[in-house]
Amino acid sequence: MKKSTLCVGLVCVDLVAETEGFPIEDTDQRIPDLSYRRGGNASNSSTVLAELGMQSEFLGMLTNSVQLDFIREDFSKHSVTIEHCPIFPDCEFPTSVVIINTINGTRTILHHPKNLPELDIQHFNNLDLTNYSWVHFEGRSSNIDNIKQMIRTVRERLENLKISVEIEKARPALGELLPLADVVFVSKDYACFSGFRTMEKAVKGFLDVTKPGTIVVCAWGSEGAAAGQNGTVVSQNACPPVQIVDTLGAGDTFNAAFIYSQVNLWDWKKGLEFACQVAGSKIGQKGFLGIG
Ligand code: ADP
Ligand code: FRU
Repeated sequence: MKKSTLCVGLVCVDLVAETEGFPIEDTDQRIPDLSYRRGGNASNSSTVLAELGMQSEFLGMLTNSVQLDFIREDFSKHSVTIEHCPIFPDCEFPTSVVIINTINGTRTILHHPKNLPELDIQHFNNLDLTNYSWVHFEGRSSNIDNIKQMIRTVRERLENLKISVEIEKARPALGELLPLADVVFVSKDYACFSGFRTMEKAVKGFLDVTKPGTIVVCAWGSEGAAAGQNGTVVSQNACPPVQIVDTLGAGDTFNAAFIYSQVNLWDWKKGLEFACQVAGSKIGQKGFLGIG
């Protein structure tokens, strides 16, 4: 049986309003499109991995609200399996209202976590880790102890299974994940919050607090991204499409494409280039269908 990549973290509902220009406060206007999308960083990355042709599984908390069928069907539409996701009763899915300005592709996210509990170590312990080729964790400061335990579990049970973590939000607790993974994705927000002014300086700085051999990757929006390992740091320009229409999930796409390169044992510099290419095609289209 082909092994799957496993993305662990959030799935949420995105209510996406597409506008031509950013709306002016206290006005009433019609917009070109309004739709529900399945969102959440780990959920989006699992989608892109499947679109790239990987066997892809998502693990995160679901609930039996009215949106459950939509979430399930959308995972299935993208061929992402969710068979190990627990369903917590009588909650609501975390929800974002997202404004996408189709003139320049910016996405403005207003997020509410609602009342859905985080995944805990029990849910992770049920997995047969020999089924996976890679495990990716979305760093969540509200669930840091469980994530650390999940990482420890992988290390204890299957030493050679590769682990990546994403450190996105500017929350100090997420720094505890830096020394624990084989690949660390650090966002521009977190890098700036940690005092770094450029992506290259960020990669260099974070390499000092990771274990030897760790690959640190830092995406920097329209400037592209940098990555490094064992003291070598390389940067890569962005690959913008002719028209940028939708940057929602660009970072999640970038992470997935880099993971794809590493599962396939590509050199990390080639992986960095590929991740910028795939993120570039994502921002030239709506959503993730057919990407790559
Ligand atoms: P996010 O804000 O979704 O986390 P990032 O800003 O980190 O995403 O961008 C991830 C990657 O997507 C970048 O490294 C780049 O390759 C591409 N990207 C994002 N925004 C742009 C843009 N405006 N122009 C060109 N490429 C972009
Ligand atoms: C994009 C995204 C959205 C979601 C938000 C959660 O990266 O995952 O789909 O609404 O971020 O922070």
